[in-house]
Amino acid sequence: MALSEFLAELDELLAQGMAALESVDDKETFEAARVEFLGAKSGRLKQVQKGLGKVSKVDKPVAGKRFNEVKVQLEAALKQAAEALAGAKGPSFISGSASFVAFGDSDTLTQAGPFDPTVPGTHFQLGHLHPLTQTTEELKDIMGRLGFTVAEGPEVEDRWHNFEALNIPAEHPARDPLDNFYLAVAGKTAGKSVEDGAWLLRSQTSTVQIRVMEKVQPPVRVISVGRVYRPDTADATHYPMFHQIEGLLVDRHVTMADLKSVLRLFATSYFEDDVHIRFRPSFFPFTEPSVEVDMSWHGGWIEMGGAGMVDPNVLRAVGYDPEEVTGLAFGLGVERICARRHGVGDIREFFKNDVRFLHQF
Ligand code: DAH
Repeated sequence: MALSEFLAELDELLAQGMAALESVDDKETFEAARVEFLGAKSGRLKQVQKGLGKVSKVDKPVAGKRFNEVKVQLEAALKQAAEALAGAKGPSFISGSASFVAFGDSDTLTQAGPFDPTVPGTHFQLGHLHPLTQTTEELKDIMGRLGFTVAEGPEVEDRWHNFEALNIPAEHPARDPLDNFYLAVAGKTAGKSVEDGAWLLRSQTSTVQIRVMEKVQPPVRVISVGRVYRPDTADATHYPMFHQIEGLLVDRHVTMADLKSVLRLFATSYFEDDVHIRFRPSFFPFTEPSVEVDMSWHGGWIEMGGAGMVDPNVLRAVGYDPEEVTGLAFGLGVERICARRHGVGDIREFFKNDVRFLHQF
């Protein structure tokens, strides 16, 4: 076979093969082109290859080289056609899979045509911290700057920490079973026999004051933020579980003026500028004197919680000497602080877990 004849056959094969592979637009046309041109047994490339054996010895190197070029080109075109087919299927598959798209790469993955960097990106909704968690973090931050460290205590408490050490004796109405979630755990716990009702879900974070003072000697400067539980009927300002931020500062010469300064700094840091605080005389068994703390920000006073000077009985209960040290303490409602700042009218919203509400924060 003459070299020119062989090369002409190769050229024709290449032109027709490329045209067929380039016009592939579905599985069927792809398969047909593959079998016709590159089929392993009787594809046209295989047929032409047979002619190579008939070319004279001197022409073989040229003929062989050209044959290989054509083969490589056709195989590359076949691969490209296969990829184009897979790519065309891509968008419908990917956009049908929401969780996949959420990773943020879908712009490039779903582009059917060439990538256009000027097309605006798809906006993905990311999750974030719950508003109460955001508030808690912010409050810890503010108090941290005032030198307070964070302490924690258990949510299941004993009567000593929730009541007795806080100067709330057995007959005190605050211990009423109707006002507390006592736990029915009669029997033995950790080897000790326990009476029914010896434990309860803590009704206040003041318990942490006791837990801290039992462990460390003054000076003490801590806050504690956490859940507390009371059998209240849920309404716009009450919920059977809510959060408190508790503060305690014990040192020599701590006064009521320090209490007011700390609370004012705290309030102005959280609400910014024109916030006012006021104290109203009150009573708590664990403080003397005791006050209710109100705050006003952009009009209207709201009650934030209680505060006062730590009662000498409390200092004695933890082995401190009330002649040596005095203390200030406060306990504020986190939901109220957060609701006031963001204009939330009903604290029940915080616990519904409705993302339409939550994603606004
Ligand atoms: N524990 C009180 C309550 O839950 C709030 C409170 C009042 C905390 C006075 C204090 C305090 O630390 O000094 O109603």
